[in-house]
Amino acid sequence: MKVLCGSTSKNLACDLAHLTGVECVQAITRRFPDGEAYVRFQREDLDKEAIIVQNTYPDTNLVELFLLCDAAKGLGVEKITCVIPYFGYARQDRRFDTGEALSAQVMLRHIALETDRLITVDLHKPDILRWFTKPGAKDIGAAPAIGEYFMDKQIDLVLAPDKGASQRAADVAHIIGCSNDHLTKTRLSGTEVKITPSKLDARGRNVLIVDDIISTGGTIVAATNELKRLGAKNVAAACTHGLFVDGALNRLRGVTDEIACTNTLESPVSLISVAKEVAKAL
Ligand code: R5P
Repeated sequence: MKVLCGSTSKNLACDLAHLTGVECVQAITRRFPDGEAYVRFQREDLDKEAIIVQNTYPDTNLVELFLLCDAAKGLGVEKITCVIPYFGYARQDRRFDTGEALSAQVMLRHIALETDRLITVDLHKPDILRWFTKPGAKDIGAAPAIGEYFMDKQIDLVLAPDKGASQRAADVAHIIGCSNDHLTKTRLSGTEVKITPSKLDARGRNVLIVDDIISTGGTIVAATNELKRLGAKNVAAACTHGLFVDGALNRLRGVTDEIACTNTLESPVSLISVAKEVAKAL
């Protein structure tokens, strides 16, 4: 079995291949002048089973995933385990308004047509995997990897920005060996959130905020400001998926004392590899 990858998540694919002692084969990928994707594995020695590591974000990478699957099948691969480190559209997990598409379900149904097994990382709500219409879908957590990364950084308190994320903060705190709590967040718009004044004891402490996604950075900025108001000594932020839209990383660097995310998406702060957790799930 080999680990195959396209143009996304190359670092994670290589880490995973290294850890599992198999070869990593990278497809040649490019775009035609009109933007359509081109994919080719310049190999003829693929095995009957393969692991394909590929994000489905942005949309163009979803098309690339389908082409990677077909290129592999054309070379004799019969069973594909698909590792989607960052699964796009996971947050549209219900029809919030009448007439909307149920995007997460659409994506999973189509991915199940092309692949046999699915591994995802820190889905916003893992129960959407019921829409992968084959057995063998699993979501793994990045908390152990994040906890290990921050273990020697004198963190006193791990915080979730809202109650829904508190289990992840508890898991990270458990590994670091410190306490955990959560803030209360209200979303005001796509880019703005309000963090309700908190009764936390943050004075003089080194605090780590952990979230699943950093998108515009609005959540982390509001949480950091509240923690600094409460007297926190240092505020670090970590997340699994660093989307960092519209220059969010630069904004966050000016507000937080440290920022790190995993390599599900590649950015200058993808400092934490989730390869070990993915390898365990395989
Ligand atoms: C939302 O529920 C997620 O867990 C994240 O908190 C959210 O996606 C972060 O978005 P932003 O960085 O735009 O505040």
